[in-house]
Amino acid sequence: MSVTDAELNREVSRPASVAPAIGKPVLSLRNIVKSFGSKKVHQGLSFDLIEGEILAFFGGSGTGKSVVLRTMIGLEKPDSGEILFEGVDITKLTEDELVQIRKKISYIFQNGALFDSMTVYENLAYPLMEHTKLSPEQIDARIKEMLELIGLKGSEKLLPASLSGGMQKRVGAARAIIMKPKVILYDEPTAGLDPFNTQRLLDLMKRIQKREGNTAVFVTHDIPSAFEVADRIAIMYNGKIHTLDTTENVKRSKDPFVQAFLAGEEIK
Ligand SMILES: Nc1ncnc2c1ncn2[C@@H]1O[C@H](COP(=O)(O)OP(=O)(O)OP(=O)(O)O)[C@@H](O)[C@H]1O
Ligand SMILES: [Mg+2]
Repeated sequence: MSVTDAELNREVSRPASVAPAIGKPVLSLRNIVKSFGSKKVHQGLSFDLIEGEILAFFGGSGTGKSVVLRTMIGLEKPDSGEILFEGVDITKLTEDELVQIRKKISYIFQNGALFDSMTVYENLAYPLMEHTKLSPEQIDARIKEMLELIGLKGSEKLLPASLSGGMQKRVGAARAIIMKPKVILYDEPTAGLDPFNTQRLLDLMKRIQKREGNTAVFVTHDIPSAFEVADRIAIMYNGKIHTLDTTENVKRSKDPFVQAFLAGEEIK
């Protein structure tokens, strides 16, 4: 049997299940196709992100989760397909136009991606100085508010190297959130954190969602964390969304693929 036949049979034996979304879509991905050379990553990926929700995004390593997030802020161009945000297809925008979009959609890199030579305060001030017309007093007030929110009051003068991994991740998250974006894309924010710091980060995600009414995508391998904070869960498989439903329904799913995935079994 050729690889293609095998893949086709797998598709048939694993029928996708995407429940209709309730609410107003903020970002809509339509038929995204993306390859790197001969490596097919996305093969017709479609879903809506609903206003105010946290959508957890699962999928095996290398299935293209980070590439989806990067595509959603225009860091990566799909080969075909559309991404609609506020009525505009962002896949068609120029770099200059994308700068405006990135004030409204922020991407939180896995490692925090802080500037090593800048203090915590300077790291947080940077996006506001670059992208807003806020006065130094307003910037100062917003940084204080953020440090309070992430539980790092008094760390203004520290350099990233003197922070723990968990603290760096929280500052990285704060640097994205400080712009008050509409949509936040978290790429494995809890990876490598101890249980205490994981909980702090989840609390931060929930607090921001409640306070600012943000919409978020939470890419993760950390199933218990996703169950704790997510409103809906998507599982990616073979370059497409295999399952998309409320967290409760995914937890209760009888689908053998979903059960195997959640049980941590190897998916081929
Ligand atoms: N810039 C690139 N050039 C070539 N291949 C790439 C590039 N970015 C990603 N890929 C490939 O695309 C696939 C998907 O990568 P991606 O980083 O999105 O996976 P992932 O689902 O986030 O995995 P993980 O869970 O391990 O983070 C991988 O096979 C990766 O090697
Ligand atoms: Mg990744």
